[in-house]
Amino acid sequence: QRGGFDHYMLKEINEQPAALDRAIKGRITDDKDVHLEEFPPGTFEDVGVVHLLACGTSYHAALYAQQILADRGIPAQVFSAGEYTTTPAPVTDDTLVVAVTQSGETADTLSSIRIAADRGARTLAVTNVIGSTAARVCDDALFIRAGPEIGVAATKTFSSQVAVLALLAERIAEDVTGAVDPDREALLAALTELPGHVEQTLNQSSAEALATQFINRDEQFFIGRGVGYPVALESALKFKEITYEHAEGFAAGELKHGPLALVTSDTTVFAVFTGRHDEKTLKNVEEVRSRGAPVVAIAAGTDHEIAEAADEFLSIPETHPVAAGLLANVQLQLVSYRVADLLGRSIDKPRNLAKSVTVE
Ligand code: F6R
Repeated sequence: QRGGFDHYMLKEINEQPAALDRAIKGRITDDKDVHLEEFPPGTFEDVGVVHLLACGTSYHAALYAQQILADRGIPAQVFSAGEYTTTPAPVTDDTLVVAVTQSGETADTLSSIRIAADRGARTLAVTNVIGSTAARVCDDALFIRAGPEIGVAATKTFSSQVAVLALLAERIAEDVTGAVDPDREALLAALTELPGHVEQTLNQSSAEALATQFINRDEQFFIGRGVGYPVALESALKFKEITYEHAEGFAAGELKHGPLALVTSDTTVFAVFTGRHDEKTLKNVEEVRSRGAPVVAIAAGTDHEIAEAADEFLSIPETHPVAAGLLANVQLQLVSYRVADLLGRSIDKPRNLAKSVTVE
């Protein structure tokens, strides 16, 4: 059932090329246009602002989408669904509320959708499960087609959520602005190449060889900027979930505003580089290295400056920054998996966690 893999998580990490292929299939035309069957051009022309509601890994996918929307000039805000049920954001009739939920059954997310809908917002579920509650209660649904995910730790569904949200962002941006952003062609080309790039990343990853260095450390920090920031948060969540070791994700620029006080030679710092403002993240790498912390950089294999600035290097193919973040995330999924495996953890069913959280 696990297809020869020791754990569902590893199987699902390796299923990402196929899952991404399904996520984008038929949704990017040959001339690099977005084609969402459910949402023809003009569907979103009345949207003024996008609110994204989600929990956990899906929350990180929502943060990723916020960055893509911001790049396209579309105001977007992300809310942790549990917080939203406490303090709902004001909505108007031009607010599009997008619920991001793999299972479509997360109680906090469902409650927050109902609150937003009661207040008059238009709702859209981005989910993996056809017939899920989120798909049924929202005005519209967009499916990520990742296939069943058994491992409690979300892996392939994160990648597929981001890919599908990127397409949705392009549709919304074109409808709202009436124009096609000059960067769109490059982004869609990168998404088309993404399944192959993930395959390459999986085949060439040195995460397993490095993993022994990352056990029995005080803590691990994950840093990134732009879409590298949600990747840092997601990678830290994955690390803590399955290794039970302390990990935190930070926006790279935030380090010096406090967390730097924690950095010692016993802190491993994973730095995500996406090709955008890498020079700033390199400065953050210097900040932690000068406190003795070993740095693992995740960046395009062609970037020798970054490779030389770090102690260890996990290489990804060179691509658009939005796709680069996902490739870095794949490398860091493998890191968490390998460390958890070395520590003999219950990888597919981590202690205290459930695949679908149906209580608030
Ligand atoms: C982490 C993880 C959880 C879920 C969260 C939301 O690996 O799986 O954080 O992402 O419980 O679940 P969904 O996406 O089903 O709403």
